[in-house]
Amino acid sequence: MPDDHPPQLPRTDVASLALAGLRQARKTLPAQLFYDEAGCRLFYRIAELPEYYLTRTELALLPEVAREVAARFDRPAALVEYGASDEAKAGFLLDRTHDTSPVFAAYVPIDVAAPALARLRARLAHARPALDVWPIAADFLGPVTLPRATGGLARLGFFPGSTIGNLDPNEARAFLRGVRTTLGAGARLLVGVDLRKDAAILLPAYDDAAGVTAEFNRNLLVRLNREAGATFDPTEFAHRAVWNAQEGRIEMHLQSRRAQTVRVAGETIRFAAGETIHTENSYKHTLPGFAALAAAAGWTTEQVWTDPAGLFSLHLLAEGTEAPPDSRPAC
Ligand code: TRP
Repeated sequence: MPDDHPPQLPRTDVASLALAGLRQARKTLPAQLFYDEAGCRLFYRIAELPEYYLTRTELALLPEVAREVAARFDRPAALVEYGASDEAKAGFLLDRTHDTSPVFAAYVPIDVAAPALARLRARLAHARPALDVWPIAADFLGPVTLPRATGGLARLGFFPGSTIGNLDPNEARAFLRGVRTTLGAGARLLVGVDLRKDAAILLPAYDDAAGVTAEFNRNLLVRLNREAGATFDPTEFAHRAVWNAQEGRIEMHLQSRRAQTVRVAGETIRFAAGETIHTENSYKHTLPGFAALAAAAGWTTEQVWTDPAGLFSLHLLAEGTEAPPDSRPAC
């Protein structure tokens, strides 16, 4: 049921997800583990950091973008948001009206953070009583079935925050293809994409002076201690942000300060001094690079917005069911 709230992630899943990554020669932890209650709170603090330009730049673009995107819909639509722990960004779209009726009749927020989703639903029941809200508590990378009630509506997918940058190009393509399948013929998708720029701007955004990002990264270990029977001493792991120019991505790591062993769900995990757990990637795209990625997943770029400094972008993609003009049969 889309409006069910299962527990965030069963503990056994947390342990097995973690162990699958920690057993590898190059240790990793899956990024979805970042967003427990403490992780969500820390991420809200990251979004407000002076060094973290992404959120504020996207928010500054959204009023105008929402106006122009909504104007493209000539019948009531459903807004399907991927990774929606709150409705702040969607609100710009949900506010839009044609004459006096709202452009969006239904809102489907999808997120792994079930408690945040429950609060979102409660807030919207008060703030937007006419809006049909169908929360889905799930990993948005998995298959998603839209509620039947959205069947007759046009569709806009929404994936803000440059979360798409947390997927490698193959995963991003597969995700974009999956969204096309979920949303169906004629759908549109609005995606926030952080842009490639000087490492002197990128690195501080992922390694802030106040140490909030470091705490966010280490919170993974705190969570594993609590939910996966792990024995990490988080202070024995340093937060590292690295710009990988070759891959065009910021990498986040937790680096073991010394040789140490840690128990995770009954298993022993050994760390050499200086060894890292690779916890996240944040790919930075170019405008043509992202358009090509979208095209490879069957989407046509309808419009792109960027801030004056060219830090961040929003892309409106259209599902390419219509043949491009040059390949249309001449009849
Ligand atoms: N989507 C965000 C980004 O890539 C997530 C993020 C911000 C993040 N700071 C982080 C993830 C630090 C891990 C660690 O910008």
